[in-house]
Amino acid sequence: MSITQIAETISRLRCIACGSTPDSAGQDFRCTACGDLLEFFFPGWPPGSLDPATLKSLWLSRRISVDALDQSGVWRFRELLPHIPVEHAITLREGNTPLYHLPRCARATGVENLHAKHQGMNPTASFKDTGMTFAASSAQQGGFRWVACASTGNTSASMAAYAARGNMHSLVLIPDGQISWGKLSQSLDYGALTCQLRTDFDGCVHILNELVRQKPVYLLNSVNPYRIEGQKTAAIELMEQFAWEPPDHIIVPGGNLGNSSAIGKALVEMLELKLISRLPKLSIIQAQGANPFYRSVHELGGRKLEPMTADTLATAIRIGNPASWKKALRVLQVTGGEVEQVTEVEITAAKAEIGADGIGCEPASAVTLAGLKKLRRSGFVKPGESVVLILTGHLLKDPDFTIKFHRGDLFSGTSSEAEAAQASSLQRAPVVLDANLGAVIAALDASERNS
Ligand code: F0G
Repeated sequence: MSITQIAETISRLRCIACGSTPDSAGQDFRCTACGDLLEFFFPGWPPGSLDPATLKSLWLSRRISVDALDQSGVWRFRELLPHIPVEHAITLREGNTPLYHLPRCARATGVENLHAKHQGMNPTASFKDTGMTFAASSAQQGGFRWVACASTGNTSASMAAYAARGNMHSLVLIPDGQISWGKLSQSLDYGALTCQLRTDFDGCVHILNELVRQKPVYLLNSVNPYRIEGQKTAAIELMEQFAWEPPDHIIVPGGNLGNSSAIGKALVEMLELKLISRLPKLSIIQAQGANPFYRSVHELGGRKLEPMTADTLATAIRIGNPASWKKALRVLQVTGGEVEQVTEVEITAAKAEIGADGIGCEPASAVTLAGLKKLRRSGFVKPGESVVLILTGHLLKDPDFTIKFHRGDLFSGTSSEAEAAQASSLQRAPVVLDANLGAVIAALDASERNS
């Protein structure tokens, strides 16, 4: 049984800079008048047009439907998304991700009401799936044979999976030697044409932008506004999990800045539709070695963004020229959020702490907890407030990082070696023993004494 839509949603495209409203987007999804990014807006949403109580109960009822689209945590909220005919929908039942309390991290930060929304619990183990189901479906609707993206690994894994499900070919451009094996292996298995380019992520984006002007391939990076629409649903689902009582703070990692833009857009739209009565503050955290947005906001007053050469062990966010920075800036201003930066050692310690809560995540996701600690110290987050960290990727995305940390090899020979001592109490290196009971009991007793 499928639970049908209340009415077909009417959406239009609009340029975020000059406000022009083209009827359709070109291959690069940029405004033909001024070159800036496009976004969807919904002219059919005058106040009172959609009854909040009706929407909430409709979305809830879809959770027990046996229809594939109703079961998806993205398509379940289709009333707030542009219309894509059902026959083009490609879904892996993405979304519907868990919200976990983090008791140990709560004690460590002094924020008792601390939760993680784990977007790593999606079908390809990152938040990208929520945007990809929707944007890949729009490619299908457009009749494209090829889809393509530049990626630090998660977008490519997700795109390859959804393209395969939708019988489309996929082209992946990734920086050679700069993405984790877990992510690379996914795009290979899902059948993508995977090109490792001798450049960084920003160099891959550059080549892809040229490519889509010459070849009929559909661009699936987050400049594609369908990606942003799909990723909005994480915030809608989060509010549902909080019984529509918003938390005080939401904290997200910042790379290309599509995710923060999407979550912020959803919050503003939910307020407009009276689904929630106030806005949480949305804060964005960057790695110190990949901090162009932090510097834009704190050093240039958000007037411009100066691209940089990015470097961080959190390879997912090794991005020096984020495409969606203007959208993210608007979200910060509207919600009253902050931008912070965190060091490599702070990221590493935070990742181990999230792991010790039995949850785990990939390095880029752990910037959220590291950032929260800073926001607590600055007084921006108060002890009595409620905080949600958006964990963007699964622990198993980057096992190399985790093993090197626990073995004590992650920072050896780097400038962070001295600082890394701070995190050493979190290390749990494997112990190699002779195969006898006495040795195992001795290890158990020693561990008990130290705990
Ligand atoms: N966390 C993870 C695990 C990511 O993979 C990314 C981005 C981000 C955070 C940052 O999100 O770009 O929306 O600000 N990964 C992209 C990729 C760039 O290609 O997989 P953002």
